[in-house]
Amino acid sequence: MNNFGQGIATGKIILMGEHSVVYGKPAIALPFNQVQISVKIYKTDRPITISSYYHNGLLDEAPKELFGIKQLIQIVMVYLKQPFFGIHVDIESNVPVQRGLGSSAAVSIAVVRSLFDAFDVELTQEKLNYFVDIAEQIHHENPSGLDAMTITSGKALFFQKDLGQSVISLKMDAVLVVADTGKKGLTKEAVSEVRKLWQDNPTVVNPILDRLEELTKNVKNFLENNEVIRLGLAMTEAHQLLKLMNVSDEKLEKFVDLSLKNGALGAKLTGGGRGGCMIALVKNIDDAIKLSDLLRNNGAVSTWFYDLKEIIT
Ligand code: PMV
Repeated sequence: MNNFGQGIATGKIILMGEHSVVYGKPAIALPFNQVQISVKIYKTDRPITISSYYHNGLLDEAPKELFGIKQLIQIVMVYLKQPFFGIHVDIESNVPVQRGLGSSAAVSIAVVRSLFDAFDVELTQEKLNYFVDIAEQIHHENPSGLDAMTITSGKALFFQKDLGQSVISLKMDAVLVVADTGKKGLTKEAVSEVRKLWQDNPTVVNPILDRLEELTKNVKNFLENNEVIRLGLAMTEAHQLLKLMNVSDEKLEKFVDLSLKNGALGAKLTGGGRGGCMIALVKNIDDAIKLSDLLRNNGAVSTWFYDLKEIIT
């Protein structure tokens, strides 16, 4: 059977500013093309069905992890003046779920793109952002919007909630090693516990957020001027600040330590934390291969290389 609509979306990596972005501070995120989600739409003669990581069968019977996607499909079908009938939505993904690589935003983006493609309706950036935000609100409760914006733009972004974003002109001769701890990161919980910490201890948390802001602004300059050593130092300091806000965990600590003791110029968690992925900065692909082997031998379930020279600006 041939599909009649398709949508693709990549993952993303937060380089700086996770958590502080929720408080209006800037963040820097990069599209991550090595992981992708592809959604295909097929014609059927039944109510809407879906095949995905979480569920294969009627959309109506989808589990709670898919509530956002279910609602998104229904809202988009209404917008496209289509009945809740006659399509199968096939989601294929190599973006590991809940690892801070943007799987929830990516799946929403790919779903919206595939449905507009299937019914041959033009999809503007504004419409895409509008629909994706609906699903993200359900997944995350008041997300900063950083993930969705990075993935839809496909560019390295300097992003500030409610203020907008600008594209960073990256000039970086360095490589990131991305390592998956294999543990699902609990972004929603981490975000709400940081909020509680902030409410209970503003005297401690506000200076942390301020320093993260400063570091993120500095990193924008480092990225534009190939200041690799300084970028590494800023990443490591950001990690220490995130750790102070209790969003690291044992395995992330182990990976950061191992990376720093074995030649990385900097290392930090990426995304919501408490599991998920770590990123380490190294000088070149040879160093990346060595570090990635070491991390895999010490429990990383997957690793990727991200050559910062490859980013389109
Ligand atoms: O875990 P992820 O990849 O969804 O990233 C969450 C980033 C936070 O700053 C912690 C939350 C947000 O909404 O930006």
